[in-house]
Amino acid sequence: MQFIDLKAQQKRIKSKIDQRIQSVLAHGKYIMGPEVFELEEKLADYVGVKNCISCASGTDALLIPLLAKNIGPGDAVITTPFTYIATAEVIALVGATPIFIDIYPETYNIDPGGIEKAVEEVKSKGLNLRAIIPVDLFGLPARYRMIEDLASQNNLFIIEDAAQGFGGEIRSKKAGSFGDVATTSFFPAKPLGCYGDGGAIFTDNDDLASIMRSIRVHGGGVDKYDNVRVGINGRLDTIQAAILLEKFNIFKEYEIELRNAVSDYYKSNLTKRYKTPHIPEGYMSSWAQFSILASSSLERSQIMKNLTDKKIPNVIYYRIPLHLQKVFKKLGYKKGDFPISEKIADQIFSIPMHPYLQKEQQNKIIEVLNNAKK
Ligand SMILES: Cc1ncc(COP(=O)(O)O)c(C=O)c1O
Repeated sequence: MQFIDLKAQQKRIKSKIDQRIQSVLAHGKYIMGPEVFELEEKLADYVGVKNCISCASGTDALLIPLLAKNIGPGDAVITTPFTYIATAEVIALVGATPIFIDIYPETYNIDPGGIEKAVEEVKSKGLNLRAIIPVDLFGLPARYRMIEDLASQNNLFIIEDAAQGFGGEIRSKKAGSFGDVATTSFFPAKPLGCYGDGGAIFTDNDDLASIMRSIRVHGGGVDKYDNVRVGINGRLDTIQAAILLEKFNIFKEYEIELRNAVSDYYKSNLTKRYKTPHIPEGYMSSWAQFSILASSSLERSQIMKNLTDKKIPNVIYYRIPLHLQKVFKKLGYKKGDFPISEKIADQIFSIPMHPYLQKEQQNKIIEVLNNAKK
């Protein structure tokens, strides 16, 4: 059994992917070939925004808008401590200061109720609060109506980190369309993944889009060798775009539906012993992960051992919240600062979730979990 079964998916569309790759090899435009632009157009249309700027990774997708907004030393950016390192890493990388606020205990997404306190914290540190990066954790969009209200009151630029959330929705509005700019990742295990690294940025703001396209290729101006700003080598490879075009067809047609069928089955068959993910009314998750809570850290270890003994893959996302990681020690946070993130980190674990998980496999996982020794 696989945690995420990329082989089963490949089997389904192998000949189409082979054809797409062959076509890139035939035209030879390995950098910024026609597939890159075809993909950008299709993704922008799907998400419902004017611009999609593909790039080399989900991390670059976060870095590029920060650079485009000239966010740097002396600036602060709010985010969640319960996420993958990349979300906060890019803030530090541009020389700005990450300001963490806690999450909701039900969805594990950022709780915008913490913004007011963060505003005070930023003032007391003598910094300039510029932006917020909410994360669509495990596939579930964050609470954007409230985030957008509070961000506009505090003049904050919003970057939606939809690295895990591509395909999710709030009231039929797609992830990737919230905030001022949204980003995603095509890391192979993501809901829409390629066969290497890749990412994309979405925005309705044409001026910003043009700056971000320039930053993606070394800050180029009208002429390729006339550089007008500092940028990066952040392009998506044509071969990856070609692969994504085929994967995107099945993603939008049925993979999201299949993932939701697996999650519904888990939710209706796991006993009350486990807290399963809460999806607020009107929200849809793309199920990057299916994460559940054990009643304690000790119980979690025992349950995970049961799963491993039965050859069922299991992983902890995330064992250490970012404010307690060595890399961010100098920010001065301590244990107890974000109690909900810390508690969830002690109890959470993820079980196999992908569109090709067979019913017998789902039944086996449910049976092992429901009968796991305490
Ligand atoms: C929430 C979040 N943000 C950003 C990233 C970075 O994406 P990438 O690995 O494509 O750079 C990831 C990837 O795991 C992620 O989960």
